[in-house]
Amino acid sequence: MKKLLHIIATPRAEESRTLQVSEAFLKTFKEKHLDWVIDELDLSKEELPSLTVKRLDGKYMLAGGKDLNGEMKEAWQEIVVQIERFMSADAYLISTPMWNFSIPHRLKHYLDVILQPKYLFRYTPTGVEGLVKNKKLVVITSRGGDYTDTMRSADFQEPYLRFVFGFMGIQDITFINAQPMDMGEPVQAQKIKEAQEAAKKIAARL
Ligand SMILES: Cc1cc2nc3c(=O)[nH]c(=O)nc-3n(C[C@H](O)[C@H](O)[C@H](O)COP(=O)(O)O)c2cc1C
Repeated sequence: MKKLLHIIATPRAEESRTLQVSEAFLKTFKEKHLDWVIDELDLSKEELPSLTVKRLDGKYMLAGGKDLNGEMKEAWQEIVVQIERFMSADAYLISTPMWNFSIPHRLKHYLDVILQPKYLFRYTPTGVEGLVKNKKLVVITSRGGDYTDTMRSADFQEPYLRFVFGFMGIQDITFINAQPMDMGEPVQAQKIKEAQEAAKKIAARL
C-alpha cells in the first residue's frame, strides 16, 4: 500500500473553504488510486513538540555532523515520530488557508519540527541536498483576496511553500489556489467550483 499524507492547516473543519476543494481532490484520488491509504494529520488537533533550548541544541549537534544520544535522543523522540510519519508517505496533500499573506502558525510549527538536518536535508561540499526524493506534493489553498494580479507580490504563501518543500528535495509541486473567497458569495461559490474541477483532474493523474 502507498500512502498519501494529508496535512490539514485550517482549524475550521466543516466551515472550511479549503477543505471543500480538498474533499473533491480526495474523492477522485480514492476512486483512481485503490492501492493507496490516506493518513490524515490535522494540525489543529495534533500535539506538536515545542522547540525547547534542549531540542534546538540537538538540531545544532545534527547540523554539526554529530549523532544524538542519551538524554538528547530522548528529548528528540517526539520530533523523530513526526519526521518518520512524514517520511513514511509516498505523496503529500496540504490543505491550507492563507493567513496574513503566508501560512497559519500551526503549519509553520510543523515545518520547524520536521525540517531537520540529517533527516530531511544534509550539507554536502557542494551545498545542501534535500533527502525527500521522488515524492509529489499537491497544495490546496484558499485566500480571502485574489493574488493572481496586482496583489501577486503580497503572496508569501505559495513562494514560501515551494521553496521549503523544494529545499527538502520535492520537485513535483502543484498548487490549486481558490481565490478570492471573501469578495461575496457568488464569486466564492464559482471559485470553489473551479478549484474543485482543477483538483479532480490533478487527483486523477497524480
Ligand atoms: C487569521 C486569518 C488571517 C487571514 N489572512 C488573510 C490574508 O492575509 N490574505 C487573504 O487573502 N485572506 C486572509 N484570510 C482569509 C482566509 O484566507 C480565507 O477566508 C480562507 O478561505 C479561509 O480558509 P478556510 O475556510 O479553509 O479556513 C485570513 C483569515 C484568517 C482567519
